[in-house]
Amino acid sequence: MREIARVSGRRVWDSRGRPTVEVEVALRDGSAGRAIAPAGASCGSGEAIDLRDGGRSFGGLDVTRAVVAVGTDIEPALRGVDAADQALVDARIDAADGTGDFSVLGGNAAVAASLAVGHAAAAARKMPLWAHYADIFQTAPSIPLPEIQIFGGGAHAARRVDVQDFMVMVPGASSFDEALAVTAEIYRAAGEIMSERGQLQGVADEGGWWPVFESNEDALETLVAAIERAGEVPGERVVISLDIAATQLCVDGGYQLVLEESRLDETRFLDLLEEWRRRFPIAAIEDPVSEKSVAGMANFTRRNPDIQVIGDDFLVTDARRVESAIACGACNALLVKVNQAGTVSRAVAAHKAAAAAGWGTIVSARSGESEDVSIAHLSVGLGAGQLKVGSFARGERTAKWNEVLRIAEHFGDGDFAAGAPLASTWWGKRYGSGL
Ligand code: PGA
Ligand code: ZN
Repeated sequence: MREIARVSGRRVWDSRGRPTVEVEVALRDGSAGRAIAPAGASCGSGEAIDLRDGGRSFGGLDVTRAVVAVGTDIEPALRGVDAADQALVDARIDAADGTGDFSVLGGNAAVAASLAVGHAAAAARKMPLWAHYADIFQTAPSIPLPEIQIFGGGAHAARRVDVQDFMVMVPGASSFDEALAVTAEIYRAAGEIMSERGQLQGVADEGGWWPVFESNEDALETLVAAIERAGEVPGERVVISLDIAATQLCVDGGYQLVLEESRLDETRFLDLLEEWRRRFPIAAIEDPVSEKSVAGMANFTRRNPDIQVIGDDFLVTDARRVESAIACGACNALLVKVNQAGTVSRAVAAHKAAAAAGWGTIVSARSGESEDVSIAHLSVGLGAGQLKVGSFARGERTAKWNEVLRIAEHFGDGDFAAGAPLASTWWGKRYGSGL
C-alpha cells in the first residue's frame, strides 16, 4: 500500500535566490510528500557533493543534472519500495549513486528524495513526520532547545567579521515558546543598539544583523549589551554560543583574522578563544579549529570540558568520523546536517553514534534554505536536544521555528529539552540544578 509509485524532481529557489532541487514522491495509495534540498556556504570538504551544472547560468549553480537524475536514477531505484522503510529507501539511493559521496546523483537530489519519502510515508500513516521518524528510528521524541543567531558573520556576511555565527541559547527557559520569546527580545535589542550607533545595515544570509563591528570582541560585547537590554543577566537564563567555522579562517596552517589584521598559529588562536570564554558567558563553540586539525580539536576539547565543543565541518554528519572523534576525544557534540550526509539514514546513524557516547546533538539548517520544515520534525523525532536554523528573521528561518511551536502543542512542558543538553557545561553546573 505504501509502495512508492513516482519520484519526480523540479528546480525551485533557495533563500539566496539560487537554484535548488525539490523532490516529490507519490505512493500507490495516493499519499504524497515533498522536500527541498538546502545548500551551505561554508562547507566541509567531506560533505556529500552538491551537483551543480557549472557553465554560465546562475553563476554555474544550476541544478539541471541533479533534477534529471531524480527521474533517470532515483525513481527506478525506489519504485515499488515501501516508503516507511527509510533504511531500504536510503540504501537504494546509495546504491544508485555508487560513489559514497553522491557525486553521480548529487547530494542535493539524494537528500531531497530521502526527505520527501519520509513525508509521503508519514502522510500514508496519517501521522506527523516527527512521530513517523521517532517510530522508525526507535528514538524518544522531545522538543529541542533552540540555538539562534543574533549577528551573522564569516561566509554569510562577506567576511565582515571573522566569526560566522554569534548566537544565544536560553537553557533557563521552561518552554520552547519562552525560549523564542526571550530570544526575540534580544534580537530586537541588538537591532536597536546597532541602529542607535548608526550601524544598522540589514541582515546577513541567515537573518542575523549585518555585523558592522570594529572587532570580533566588539560583536561579543554588543551581544552581551543586547542580552542586558532585553532584561536578562548574561550567563543566567541566557548563554552565548559561537560558530567559529575556523576552516574558513585557515590559511597555510594559521588563522587569519581580517578585522584584527592578525594571523595566529593554532595555539595562539585557541588561547584567544579561551580568553573570550573567560570574558563572556559562552557555553558552546562550534568548529574552533580547521576541519583538518584533529590534534587541535582534541586539545581544545580537553582544555574546555565545561562547554559544548561542536563538530560541524570537522565531522560532516558522518558516523565513522564521529566514532574516530570519540576515540581520540575530539569534540563532545555533533552538528547534524542531513545534506552533509546525503540521506536521512546516514544522518541518523551519525546522531546515534554521537548520542551513544553521551554527546549532545544539534540538528542544523544550512545558510541556503527554503520553506521546507523537514529538519524541525527530525530534531523533535530524534529527540536531538538542540536545533539551529539561523536567526529570527527571514521566512525560511521562521518556517522552522514556527513549525516546532505547532509541534510543541502535542507535548507537555516536561518534554522540552531546556538546559538538559548543557548539563555537563559550566552553565549546567551553576544554574541547572533542576536538570
Ligand atoms: P553553511 O553554514 O550552511 O553556510 O555551511 C552553517 C553552519 O556552519 O552551521
Ligand atoms: Zn558550522
